[in-house]
Amino acid sequence: MPVRLIVGAQWGDEGKGKIVDLLSDDADYVVRYQGGANAGHTVVVNGETTILHLIPSGILHPNVRCVIGNGVVINLEVFFKELDKLAEKNIAWQGRMRVSERAHLILPAHRAMEEAEEKGPGAVGTTLRGIGPAYRDKMARIGITIGEFLHRNRFLEALERQRTWRERTVPVLPKKAVDPEAVEAELAPFRERIAPMVGDTGLELYRAAREGKRILLEGAQGTMLDVDHGTYPYVTSSSATAGGGATGSGIPPRFINEVMGVTKAYTTRVGLGPFPTEMLGSEGAALRDQGAEYGVTTGRPRRCGWLDGLALRHAVRVNGLDKLAVTKLDVLSGWPTLKIATAYKVSGCDLVVEFPGRIDFLERAEPLYEEFPGWSEDISNARSWSDLPETARNYLKRIQEIADVPIALVSVGSARDQTIAL
Ligand code: IMP
Repeated sequence: MPVRLIVGAQWGDEGKGKIVDLLSDDADYVVRYQGGANAGHTVVVNGETTILHLIPSGILHPNVRCVIGNGVVINLEVFFKELDKLAEKNIAWQGRMRVSERAHLILPAHRAMEEAEEKGPGAVGTTLRGIGPAYRDKMARIGITIGEFLHRNRFLEALERQRTWRERTVPVLPKKAVDPEAVEAELAPFRERIAPMVGDTGLELYRAAREGKRILLEGAQGTMLDVDHGTYPYVTSSSATAGGGATGSGIPPRFINEVMGVTKAYTTRVGLGPFPTEMLGSEGAALRDQGAEYGVTTGRPRRCGWLDGLALRHAVRVNGLDKLAVTKLDVLSGWPTLKIATAYKVSGCDLVVEFPGRIDFLERAEPLYEEFPGWSEDISNARSWSDLPETARNYLKRIQEIADVPIALVSVGSARDQTIAL
């Protein structure tokens, strides 16, 4: 299976980091293809937790080459901080970290713009990492690539071009955030450090795939945060679905042989926007505590709710999922009754059984649930299907039926070995 893709089937935070780390055992390359340091991928190995925002989760495997693809937006300071942290943990990344020359930079102006945008109407509850404004500049064709950054004069010219463009369009930006010399002074220390990692990663990956090398494409955020297929406008600014894996890495779409979706056994969401199966009040708070549902990038409490079967089927469809990984099943231990939404009642409409594309429908949706008896046992030591209580197996079987794709992995804790392969 040379090219595999891992994608979030919900609103992000599904536990993709753990799954990518596990599957990296069988990979030569692990590639991030979209997003930036808005992501927070957690990997726990031998009791030690590593949180990765920008670096692919395969980095903990010494033989894996890691690529930041052209579809990613890079904050250089965060990138090097993360590499330095890895070095402190004796994780040797030198010589196996590659960065696309086509990836775009996140600049001080992007963060400044987002600060202002998120203060008023139209706020999305973003991570404030400058992601949206950086992608906006990319699409407006005034973004600056890593390739351009490597040449000081080219970079200064590009910043000047951006500044005059902004002067015509965005009068409120702090001078320091758009002054080419100030921005150059801030970012110059990173130039020499990043230069040896930069290249045509699309070509490298194409050749690697042709040679039969095993490539793992690591999605960030999730289907419901995808700019096209998510709950727009409450989405991130990139293609977080499987299609982004081709455009964001340079690997031709038909080279991707397998797409695995990752879903929690329940649902969480950070930031604003509709969430039909949200549990409000003490129930939601209890699930948040049990699942330690706080954002690893921003520390924000995550909104928690029941599994949404309509959202899951939407993810199966728009990503063409072949398989599912179900994470955090252990968190549901102790709940006497579990629920999965299988339809929505929306005032003025017939019963809704497919995830609606219209935000006003979602805002009015009242989920109709199927109920399942829960289990009281601690299942964090389960390592096989037969170790799970029958009620847990029935819950998983129903998820599989609703999704109509097989469950390949079940995660019952954050450690690598707390996994059931089916
Ligand atoms: P942005 O990606 O910072 O622009 O934020 C847009 C929306 O996506 C907000 O609701 C964020 O909370 C959400 N978001 C972005 N990255 C992640 C993630 O990695 N996990 C979960 N939510 C995310």
